[in-house]
Amino acid sequence: MATLIVSYSLTGNNQALAKGLATSLSAQHIRITEPKKRTTGTIALDVMLNRTLKIEPLQDRFGEYDVVMFVGPVWMGQVAAPFRACFKQYGAKIDKYAYISISGGAEGPNPKLKDELTKRLGKAPVAVVDLHIADLLPKEPKPERKDTSAYKINEKEVGQLTESVVTSLKGSNLPI
Ligand SMILES: Cc1cc2nc3c(=O)[nH]c(=O)nc-3n(C[C@H](O)[C@H](O)[C@H](O)COP(=O)(O)O)c2cc1C
Repeated sequence: MATLIVSYSLTGNNQALAKGLATSLSAQHIRITEPKKRTTGTIALDVMLNRTLKIEPLQDRFGEYDVVMFVGPVWMGQVAAPFRACFKQYGAKIDKYAYISISGGAEGPNPKLKDELTKRLGKAPVAVVDLHIADLLPKEPKPERKDTSAYKINEKEVGQLTESVVTSLKGSNLPI
């Protein structure tokens, strides 16, 4: 089973998770980067205008893998916008895929990810695993967005989150 992990991360959390997963699954790992500086303003504009900004070219080996795992944040309820260019350029070559995220979760789950992915890639994901920083924090006082957005996951949490993802994927149709 050849697995490709494609990650994007603005503040490091999903990069750390993607690295943990790549090690745990013995998968190839490539990163999406953008030529232009990413800001909260460009995040909001991408979501509101459904924009696709340029990414740096990726090594085009998408057709060689049985499964592609996208690992990245959730922004305003959506898949992080830098994946859009990747989906447009390489989506047709991808058979099975999953979206995996360590997102904030302060306002609860992000229920629209599966539908958005299905629309953007023209096929449904085999799995969506959305883990939340809010679940790593004390229950009281209830974590707010400012608490989750400032949080950087530590090495121990990367290990725990990686295990959770692998367990979830094993429960899906993904033969890993
Ligand atoms: C502009 C912005 C919007 C966000 N919107 C959401 C959201 O809708 N749902 C959520 O769970 N987390 C949301 N988050 C939190 C991020 O998903 C979370 O901080 C994530 O761990 C960041 O990943 P990274 O460190 O890999 O960039 C948002 C963060 C930013 C900066």
